[in-house]
Amino acid sequence: TLTIQESEKGFCTVNGEIVNNHEGYSGTGFVDTANAEGASITWKVDVDGGNYDVSVRFANGSTARGATLSSNEINTTYGFATTGDWATWADETHTVSLAAGENTIQLSALTAGGLPNVDAITI
Ligand code: GCU
Repeated sequence: TLTIQESEKGFCTVNGEIVNNHEGYSGTGFVDTANAEGASITWKVDVDGGNYDVSVRFANGSTARGATLSSNEINTTYGFATTGDWATWADETHTVSLAAGENTIQLSALTAGGLPNVDAITI
C-alpha cells in the first residue's frame, strides 16, 4: 500500500495555515503551523495494516523542532532538524505500526516553535 497525502489535502485539522510563500513544495502548498507547543496536523490514512515507513516532508529554517507522531496510542518522535532555510525540504522517516483500515495520524509539536513547515506525509 502506498498512500501519499499532501498536507493541504485530506487533513482533518491544522493548527495553522496552508500557504505557498517558500519554493520547493509539492502540490499547491504546505502547512505553516502556529509557533506553539502542541501545534498539530492530523491526517486520516487507510492502509492494509502492519509496519510502515512514514515519511514527513518538511522544511525548517529555524533550530530543531521535534514532534511526536501518534497513531493508535503509539508515539514516535521526529527530530525535524534544521534544513538551513525555509525553501530547503527534507524527508524524515520512521517505522510506525498502523492498523488495518482508517488510522488517525497526528503530528504534534514538542517545542514552542511549533512544527516545521510540512509539505506532505508519505506512507
Ligand atoms: C518564518 C517563515 C515561515 C515559518 C516561520 C516559523 O516566518 O517564513 O515559513 O513557518 O518562520 O518560524 O515557523
